[in-house]
Amino acid sequence: MKKIFITRHIPEAGLRLLRKQRSLKIDVYEKDRIIPRRVLLRRVRGVDIILSILTDRIDKQVMDAAGPQLKLIANFAVGFDNIDINEAKKRGITVTNTPGPEISAAVAEHVLALIFALAHRITETDTFARKNKYKGWGPEMFLGVDVAGSTLGLIGGGAIGSAVAKRLKDGFGVKILYHDVKHNIKLEAETGAVFCPLKTLLKQADWVSLHVPLLPSTHHLIGAPELKLMKKTAYLINTSRGPVVDEATLIDALKNNQIAGAGLDVYEHEPHIPRALRKLPNVVITPHTASATHTSRDAMSRAAAQNILAFTSGKTPPNALS
Ligand code: GLV
Repeated sequence: MKKIFITRHIPEAGLRLLRKQRSLKIDVYEKDRIIPRRVLLRRVRGVDIILSILTDRIDKQVMDAAGPQLKLIANFAVGFDNIDINEAKKRGITVTNTPGPEISAAVAEHVLALIFALAHRITETDTFARKNKYKGWGPEMFLGVDVAGSTLGLIGGGAIGSAVAKRLKDGFGVKILYHDVKHNIKLEAETGAVFCPLKTLLKQADWVSLHVPLLPSTHHLIGAPELKLMKKTAYLINTSRGPVVDEATLIDALKNNQIAGAGLDVYEHEPHIPRALRKLPNVVITPHTASATHTSRDAMSRAAAQNILAFTSGKTPPNALS
C-alpha cells in the first residue's frame, strides 16, 4: 500500500485514475485554499508520494517531514521552481511535472488574449463603458494597434512558445523572432521563426513574450537594461513566472511610457499584485490563469496521475525530471 498526499483538490479526471488503483491510499487536503505550511508539514508525514501544486514550496524541510520513504513528488504544473530539485535528486526522489499539448494550447490562447486585449484596449474600454462614460462615437477614441503584420519576440522557443508562434503566424502573418539556449528547428520550419540574440529581439519585437522556466539564470532576465532596449511602442507579455521580470523596474517603465504596456499573468510575489501595477491603464492583468481551461486542467490532472501510476508500477514516469 503506497500513501499519497494531495495538497489541493485537482480535477476528477486524474483522481478517478488514481482511485482505480486499489493499492494506493489517497489523502486529499480537504479545503479549497492553499494549504498552510504547518498543515503541509504535518500531513506529509509517512507518505510515499506527494502530489503538489505550484504554490507549495517542496524543500528539504518538507522532505524531512515526510520521511525517507518519500520517493515521488508529482507536481501539478509545467513549472517546477517550487521544488528543490537538487535536494530531491540527492535523496533519490523522482520529480515529475505535467506538460502536454492541451496546456500549451491553453497558455498560447491566453497569450493571444492578452495581446489582443492590449492591441484593442479591451480592459480600458470595458471599464470606460461600464462606468457609463460613453457619450458618443469619436474618430479618434481609444485608438489601438494592429496585430497583423507585427513582430513577436519569443524568449523561450519550447512547446508553449511554439504554440504561441504558430497561432500568430498562421492566423495573423506575425513575424517571429526567438531567443533560447538552443535552436528549435521545428519551430523555425513551421513558422519561419528567426533565432536571434536577446538584444536584437528586444530592439525589434512589438510583442516580447516570455516562455522560460524560472531558474537562477532566468531570474530578472528582464530588468532595466532589457526594458530600455525595447521599442516605446512594444508590449511585454509574461505567462511564465513572475520573478523572470524585475517587477519594480517594469512598473517604472510602464509609468514612464518607456514601453507601451504589458500583459501579465504572473507576479514576482504571488499572490500579491502591487497596487501600482493594478492602477496602470496600459496593463492587462490576470491571476495566474493562463492554463485554466477545463481541457487543460483535466489533462494536467491525468498527467499527474499517469506519472504516479507509472512510478508505482516500477516504470519511469512519462514526465520525470530527475
Ligand atoms: C502554471 O503556471 C504551470 O506551470 O503549469
